[in-house]
Amino acid sequence: MAKPYDPKDFYYRKAKKQGLRARSAFKIEEILHRHRLLGRGDAVLDLGAAPGGFLQILADAVGEKGVAVGVDLEPIRNLGKRWVRTAVVDLLAPDALDKIRLLHEGRFRLVTSDMAPKTIGIKVTDEARSLELVRMALSVAEQVLVPGGAFVAKVFMGGDFPALKRELQGRFAAMHVIRPEAVRESSYEVYVLGTGFRGGAAVGRVAPPAEEPGAPAGPERAAPEPPAAPEHAAPQPPAAPEHAAAPAKAAGPAETAPRKKPAAAKKATATKKPASKKPAARKPTARKPAPRKPARRA
Ligand SMILES: C[S@@+](CC[C@H](N)C(=O)[O-])C[C@H]1O[C@@H](n2cnc3c(N)ncnc32)[C@H](O)[C@@H]1O
Repeated sequence: MAKPYDPKDFYYRKAKKQGLRARSAFKIEEILHRHRLLGRGDAVLDLGAAPGGFLQILADAVGEKGVAVGVDLEPIRNLGKRWVRTAVVDLLAPDALDKIRLLHEGRFRLVTSDMAPKTIGIKVTDEARSLELVRMALSVAEQVLVPGGAFVAKVFMGGDFPALKRELQGRFAAMHVIRPEAVRESSYEVYVLGTGFRGGAAVGRVAPPAEEPGAPAGPERAAPEPPAAPEHAAPQPPAAPEHAAAPAKAAGPAETAPRKKPAAAKKATATKKPASKKPAARKPTARKPAPRKPARRA
């Protein structure tokens, strides 16, 4: 039986201790470490970035020679790093891409989306809204990724999930479904990861039929990232002390409401390493992100 929902669980306390703004930071950290998606000097775009947990990890991974752009419906408190740029953007609005391009004219090595809709408790509706956001994120990614780049998005597993997988398979050389350790046991969210973006030629491509086998794996970093654009004057929210241990923002409805894990989510879980009460110590990787500043206690 799933454990009762504990809003101040292990990862919440760990995030607070490390000065991270949301427990979801550990999800992207695990994905980055497992798949080596970013390096120093890369450009990364984070959609649905408030309050900034993902963005803190991504900013550290690209370092000061890189660019980390975060956008959300909500303002994102300043991270105090000059290579981080944020703006209030509704990804469902027609001017979303223009606003993103104002923040960074070049292309991105990685696009992440942790966007979650405001749930209403009706499963099919909530899943459909989640998929709408993922598809919007994918459409933005297609227009801003470098060939060979990667896309990570949170999705609530539902009826249309196989169709989404096919859409990704048409656009990326490899596709993975990941359920990071920090996802609550009761949640049915997973992250889809596409690596080896096929580039402009794939835009508008019709997804292969269901029975077509997955695309062969290709190099994940086939093309170099263009140099980062110079810092520009996009408005930032007022500065706040970096890593102020603000209470982690409720990271999305699927994390705040206990749900029975659907069969599909269980299947995704089954493919990852065996679950443990506490996560194993993180393994160092060849493309290790820069160390964070020492954590301040709340
Ligand atoms: C789970 S939270 C993101 C947490 C974030 N990844 C972090 O680590 O701090 C989901 C976010 O998606 C944002 N969101 C939902 N719909 C959106 C939309 N249409 N455009 C932009 N952001 C959206 C919400 O405002 C919310 O901040």
